[in-house]
Amino acid sequence: MIADWTDEAVSGFETRIVRTRHRLHERPMFADEGLARILELYPREALGAFTMGEDLEDWGSWVRGNVQGLSGDQLLRAVHEGRLWLNLRHANAHLPEFGDLCAEIAEEKQQRLATRILNRDLGLLISSPGARVFFHLDVPLSSLWQVRGEKRIWFYPRREPYVSDAWIERCVLRTAEGQAPFRAEWDADATTFAMLPGDMTTWPQNMPHRVDNGPMLNVSLSMEFMTPRALRRARVLHANGVLRRSLGWTPKVQEAPGPRLAAKLAFHAAHRLLNKGSRAPILPERFRITAEGKRVAA
Ligand SMILES: [Fe+2]
Repeated sequence: MIADWTDEAVSGFETRIVRTRHRLHERPMFADEGLARILELYPREALGAFTMGEDLEDWGSWVRGNVQGLSGDQLLRAVHEGRLWLNLRHANAHLPEFGDLCAEIAEEKQQRLATRILNRDLGLLISSPGARVFFHLDVPLSSLWQVRGEKRIWFYPRREPYVSDAWIERCVLRTAEGQAPFRAEWDADATTFAMLPGDMTTWPQNMPHRVDNGPMLNVSLSMEFMTPRALRRARVLHANGVLRRSLGWTPKVQEAPGPRLAAKLAFHAAHRLLNKGSRAPILPERFRITAEGKRVAA
């Protein structure tokens, strides 16, 4: 699946931005006909549909919409002609062919990287010409596989002023959707490159990034996953977020094993038992797409 596993790609996993080539774009399932069928089969209520403004600093213009009642063909046409970002999360759990694909990707990573790949979430992203994802971070590890079209990705250092531990904790606790305050001048400090069909990239956990589509329909796969190390970091951040919120502490992230890390993990486990978090979307529905592909207020 990965065409060039270099030593650099293997040694940089989880600690650096890694870029490799893949062959997924050669599979026919990602042509328009295949996509329309996928959109028909994927449970519509699980589908995340978003639109967004132009201004990079106006991250509140990222809003969720409703795409119920459209056929797969109609929905795909609306993406071609509009300004939409469709996220078919957990496609591996909903569609057998994505289940197989996810298992293939995870197996290859496990073998090459000598780690366990846990909490696997393979998402299919189908997005409009010129659509963008604002500055944000993801809680798990993530890899982006470009299949159709061209996009540009920017990565920013995982530290202040770009992002604070407190903000990362909010994302882990799901009191924030992931988007974060942004200043256009930060682009001067970013690592950026174009992604063409066959390009794959993966980056350190929680590293902030943003994405701009080129002037064509884009199809990408987003594989989110955990390793034992990433899971530990997320649990520590979770415990820290609770301590900061309830006790006003300013806790640090422990990476190395020791009594502090052990205490955080125990605290996390106890807290999670008491608070079974909801996975409902944080953003309300603000628009609806009609069968003709028009965007109207919800
Ligand atoms: Fe992301």
